[in-house]
Amino acid sequence: MNQKPYPRMTREELMAERELIRAKYEELKAQGLNLNMARGKPGKEQLDMVSDIMDVLRSDSDFVCDGIDARNYGNLEGLPAARKLFAEILGTQPENVFVGGSASLQLMYDTIAKAYTHGLLHSEKPWARLEKVKWLCPAPGYDRHFSISQSFGMEMITVPMTPAGPDMDLVERLIQDPEVKGMWCVPKYSNPDGIVYSDETLRRIASMKPAAPDFLLMWDNAYCVHEFRGEYRPFPDILSECEKYGNADMVFEFASTSKITFPGAGLSVFACSQANMAYMKKLLNAQIISYDKVNQLRHVRYLKDKAGVLALMKKHAGILGPKFQCVLDALEREIAPLGIAAWEKPVGGYFVSVNTMPGIAMATWQLCKEAGLTLTKAGATFPYGKDPRDSNMRIAPSLPPIEQLEKAMEIYCVSLRLAAVEHCLGMTAD
Ligand SMILES: Cc1ncc(COP(=O)(O)O)c(C=O)c1O
Repeated sequence: MNQKPYPRMTREELMAERELIRAKYEELKAQGLNLNMARGKPGKEQLDMVSDIMDVLRSDSDFVCDGIDARNYGNLEGLPAARKLFAEILGTQPENVFVGGSASLQLMYDTIAKAYTHGLLHSEKPWARLEKVKWLCPAPGYDRHFSISQSFGMEMITVPMTPAGPDMDLVERLIQDPEVKGMWCVPKYSNPDGIVYSDETLRRIASMKPAAPDFLLMWDNAYCVHEFRGEYRPFPDILSECEKYGNADMVFEFASTSKITFPGAGLSVFACSQANMAYMKKLLNAQIISYDKVNQLRHVRYLKDKAGVLALMKKHAGILGPKFQCVLDALEREIAPLGIAAWEKPVGGYFVSVNTMPGIAMATWQLCKEAGLTLTKAGATFPYGKDPRDSNMRIAPSLPPIEQLEKAMEIYCVSLRLAAVEHCLGMTAD
């Protein structure tokens, strides 16, 4: 393999490289593969590993927990034992935790929907009656967050991510605009970069002074216990941080067991101040009598406590770690010497975020697709699906078995090289 960086190659060298890579690409394409690294789904082995959760409750089980029959209506805010479990995981108090249904994304959507229909605790009026709602979107970020914002017609403002989290100089400037009503954050192992916000970023976020009295910090702690390499990394509790700076009501934190037990069939939570909890419970009370406490009980009995969760996450790491290593090794071996892309090396979360040379992410995605490899669409990690540099690509290594992953990475690396070499030769549009 030619190891010379593409940007330093002569035209002749680039032409020769193109011929070589094109042949490799056609060979892979001819294999008629159908591989998928598009979404952060746990693999079958992970799901099989936790499927004994289904044996925890049977028809002759004791369904009473803390004096509450989990099978019946009641306890809108969730089983006390489930609130306690998540409070321990998030480093907050059970009174601050609301245990909902099977997806945190729904709780996020619902919180924003309530801001539009009813307003939040400190809103002057429901957001639906406002001329404009602007929203801060650290990017690259999670596409489904941006979809929520887009579906409500928010004006999304891109905030670049840095290795320490969102660019806080920019955030502090933007929140002086009263039309800026909130911000998405994935503070630990961000989607897709796998970045952990620094203590300084955290302090600056918690102490923000937004012009909007009802500014909403959407703190999506989806990967709070999701190390796939090394030890569990404790992370500050955002609720008490915000409270310290007089911002107790600014934040809603979210988490779920989607990547602990079953995605879309586990538990989700939000955590917030007591005042927000009282306000939300009043609104939720008109919406539902109580969530699925049987599933909550199943999870409490299965996971037991934070130590139980961390022990289980170690087992997930045993499956996920080698998959991430496979992706990172392939990039290091095939791409690093060529000077055509850079990437983060996360130790937690569900993604590897690759930044290609500007202008080739979409072409790479298209080449992968034509060769039978589905990836998250290029651009999806930015508001409106538009990456201004056409550079960021999200790789999700969790779903395919490792043999398939190796093949998938072969297609990815060859596609990226082909897109890069053709770009350097001026064969694709900028
Ligand atoms: C940052 C982030 N938040 C939320 C979710 C979805 O969570 P849930 O299944 O609880 O809706 C994901 C899934 O990939 C995610 O990456």
